[in-house]
Amino acid sequence: MYSDKVMDHFSNPRNVGSMDNADGIGEVGSASCGDMMKIFIKVNDDKVIEDIKFQTYGCASAIASSSIATEMIKGMKIEEALKVTTKQIVDALDGLPPHKVHCSVLAADAIKKAIQNYLGEGD
Ligand code: FES
Repeated sequence: MYSDKVMDHFSNPRNVGSMDNADGIGEVGSASCGDMMKIFIKVNDDKVIEDIKFQTYGCASAIASSSIATEMIKGMKIEEALKVTTKQIVDALDGLPPHKVHCSVLAADAIKKAIQNYLGEGD
């Protein structure tokens, strides 16, 4: 049911943890399953995301999605990171079962919120 990539990132998630002096924090919850995700970013003077951490209280797909998404956007400029789509996250995981795609949406949304928080936008 899950690809090797999903299993790898679920059993050995990258960039797990929190950050004391984050420049942006994004927290989202899924209305459909009640799972939560929190993303912390550190942005340098060149507007590059030089560090990123996540905490997920969620399913295997949510953990794998946040792990691979944090790997994808680490080192990206914030404008590039804002353009990362759910589809790119799912493709990077070699696919997710259709009823699990919302878990990757959580990761994309949390990243967007963290960047908006850094930019002083959003709620
Ligand atoms: Fe809730 Fe996957 S089932 S994030």
